[in-house]
Amino acid sequence: MTGQRRLGLFTLAAMLGLAWWSWRTLEQGQTSGLASGPSPAADLPRALAVHTQARAPIPPDPTNRFADDARTVALGERLFFDESFSASGTVSCATCHDPERAFTDGERVARGEGPGTRNTPTILGAARRRWFTWDGRADTIWSQAAEPIEQPVEHGFDRTRFAVAIRDDPGIRRLWEAACGSLPKALEAVPVGLAARPALAGEGPGAAPVANWSTLPAEQRAAINRVFSASMKALGAYQRTLDMPLSAFDRWADAVGRGSVSIDDAEAGGIITPAARRGWLLFSGKANCIQCHGGREFTDGEFHNLGLPGPDGRLGGDPGRRDAIARLKADPFSSAGEFSDDRDGAEARLVRSLKDDPETWGQFRTPSLRGVALTAPYMHDGRFATLADVIAFYDTLEGAIALDHHREAVLQPLGLTGDERADLEAFLVALSPESMPRLPDSAR
Ligand code: HEC
Ligand code: HEC
Repeated sequence: MTGQRRLGLFTLAAMLGLAWWSWRTLEQGQTSGLASGPSPAADLPRALAVHTQARAPIPPDPTNRFADDARTVALGERLFFDESFSASGTVSCATCHDPERAFTDGERVARGEGPGTRNTPTILGAARRRWFTWDGRADTIWSQAAEPIEQPVEHGFDRTRFAVAIRDDPGIRRLWEAACGSLPKALEAVPVGLAARPALAGEGPGAAPVANWSTLPAEQRAAINRVFSASMKALGAYQRTLDMPLSAFDRWADAVGRGSVSIDDAEAGGIITPAARRGWLLFSGKANCIQCHGGREFTDGEFHNLGLPGPDGRLGGDPGRRDAIARLKADPFSSAGEFSDDRDGAEARLVRSLKDDPETWGQFRTPSLRGVALTAPYMHDGRFATLADVIAFYDTLEGAIALDHHREAVLQPLGLTGDERADLEAFLVALSPESMPRLPDSAR
């Protein structure tokens, strides 16, 4: 036997031994649930490989200089649960974003000081979004807090009474000054009880709070805006601490990525149900949900028109994205606006580059599906009561309005069996968080 052949045989034997050893450890890994052997993640389908990567932290927010300061978080938490910043003294952010309901309200559409038109999304994981609200009319989590305070059907309040309430409540004032510095001097002269704010989208100059706003001296308006915008940034800072916790699906994906569970194991290593595993294969395969709900947050972060009819049976009473672009560009609280701490950053440049586009009419943001089993009802208008109803819609597209050739026509009826529908639902349930973030005592 030549040296070369001997070396070849030795290598072969070593490889067989290694193969046997890794098969053994894989077997043991499956029963013990421990990580073992080299990571075969590279061999995974791309869609699953995404889920085996460590989850990135919530990205920084350069538009909010208070974003990660514990003192602003404490202030934001206080503001989030405080009902005194509303017309009736009964509405806080938590009225609709109720921590007991995964920071939603369980209602078809939101109800604050009056009836709203949109379904309440969760705050959990919201800081990971690219655009905020169903139509994306806010581009930072802190700027999204300004609108509900002043919307008549939400808090029905205004920035002037908001700033004055902070000035006159010693407890909140202390929190505010610890977080954001001294209150501006000009605030001292603003009268108690004066409701004053700039016009809301579509509102005329005749509305009483709008008329009041124009009578305030410029330095008082500037002081109010400063207190209001810093408070919104505190609300943003608090909401950045509310991430959507990981799910059983994440544990399964990680186990498959590490090789301790085979993707072909019908029992999914006992981590998720066999139905949930089959549901994932449908979601990422035949049903092609990942086309829009792909990636680690199960969303492409973009806007689509699913052809959902409006209440009158015609396409959209709600223009969705179409209206939002103009509002975002005009919003003084956007990343490009005067209260942003990064007015020339990448975010701001993106806002400035957005163009009004008729094609965006009736588009809504693809929601993340993390924790979706906890946030019924579904869609921007809460039209579907259950996940089964949502799946039935995607399966048959019943009631959907055919979109003309200008619009995307990606959705096709799926023709699922009853078992397949149930599997898809089991997968969506497996995305439920396995724990919940710690809540302040005030919220319990
Ligand atoms: C009356 C119910 C109600 C109240 C009160 C309310 N919200 Fe909301 N919230 C909603 C609804 C509905 C939406 C979706 C709005 C839309 O798409 O037009 C939303 C959207 C959001 C979003 C965007 C989430 C995402 O995934 O895009 C954030 C962040 C948010 N609210 C924070 C707050 C804060 C902070 C407060 C208190 C200052 C607050 N909300 C008060 C109902 C409410
Ligand atoms: C063309 C892109 C697209 C595809 C493909 C798609 N979705 Fe969606 N999905 C969306 C958009 C956009 C919405 C929000 C629509 C609205 O509110 O009007 C949505 C909403 C949902 C919701 C409601 C979530 C909530 O919080 O209200 C669920 C659940 C859902 N989709 C699951 C699926 C499943 C399961 C599939 C595959 C069968 C799928 N989606 C395929 C874009 C898509």
